[in-house]
Amino acid sequence: MNLRPVRREDADALYRLLRTCADAAEQDEEVTPESVARQFDVPGLDIRQCMWVLPKDGQTLKAVVSVIPLCSEGFEVLHLGWHAHPSVRSLEFQERLVRFAEERAPTVRTRPDLPAVLHAGVRMQNAEKVQVLQKLGYQPVRWFLELSRPLREPFTRPIPPAGYSVGEGSSSAQEIYTVAHEAFQDHWSQPHITLEQFGYLLDTLGGEEHVVHTARTTANELVGVCLTRLRHAAQCASRAREAEIALLAVLRAHRRKGLATCLLHSALQWARAQGCGAAVISVDSENWTGADRLYRKLGFVERSRSVVYRKSLS
Ligand SMILES: CC(C)(COP(=O)(O)OP(=O)(O)OC[C@H]1O[C@@H](n2cnc3c(N)ncnc32)[C@H](O)[C@@H]1OP(=O)(O)O)[C@@H](O)C(=O)NCCC(=O)NCCS
Repeated sequence: MNLRPVRREDADALYRLLRTCADAAEQDEEVTPESVARQFDVPGLDIRQCMWVLPKDGQTLKAVVSVIPLCSEGFEVLHLGWHAHPSVRSLEFQERLVRFAEERAPTVRTRPDLPAVLHAGVRMQNAEKVQVLQKLGYQPVRWFLELSRPLREPFTRPIPPAGYSVGEGSSSAQEIYTVAHEAFQDHWSQPHITLEQFGYLLDTLGGEEHVVHTARTTANELVGVCLTRLRHAAQCASRAREAEIALLAVLRAHRRKGLATCLLHSALQWARAQGCGAAVISVDSENWTGADRLYRKLGFVERSRSVVYRKSLS
């Protein structure tokens, strides 16, 4: 296959390809010209080393495939992703893309001292991608649920526990990183990202409409955080505006006091005030800290599922 490494000048063509694939309901992540361009500036990752494109002519791309290395749980996890233009999206073509990625995977590794696995996350309704992965020997290892909650339904305002305040507030990237890092550190396949990378992720959100709600002790210590952003209408299942809970974390010592409930309530209120029809959140179906139960208690219901498929690189 005549794929070549992606270049910065491919950003527009890449955006058009991803946009076409998103319209075909292949993915639900945000795709904007800015988000595509930003992929070239992630600290500690040179995307030109781990993404390849198949040009049709100078202006159009037929396909893109990427293998992104991230460390977690004593493994080097190589995140495999691919998108093919609907005009060429046969099973055989997609299989060749994945085989290409598998061949290139050893070249993107940054931690050859660790065992390496390939991970590919796909939406369950994307039968073609599921078929390709199964045919190539990938095993399903984890399910992620997308939950949603209509905002027109009423919600009862919870009272913050004594000794805490919850509300909209500003926090430094360092403070939020400390809370998120502690809260998620033993979660499945949680990549080890640096403060610099985390700050970059927050900065990129700065370009989108978003809000941070915080839970603090009376001594002003940050113990919980909830980050909510607006999705672009094109990415919303109902094509009406939706709000996405992008991060929710409470420090271990402060759990089961109702802080996440208060944070989520504030987030839902904010989303409603922005004119959103629903709030959405993605959760690991085996989240061991009870997140699934928390969301269902607040009226969230399952809307779609995605599966993470795994294959050992060896
Ligand atoms: C999930 C998390 C945010 C919950 O924070 P919290 O402040 O403890 O949540 P609340 O006190 O508001 O819990 C509300 C309800 O959720 C459910 N719940 C919360 N933690 C639970 C647990 N460990 N086991 C079972 N149910 C749980 C319960 O129904 C609880 O009500 P109850 O205490 O009256 O039984 C927190 O555990 C956390 O930070 N986990 C790690 C990060 C994470 O997984 N974030 C979500 C990613 S999608």
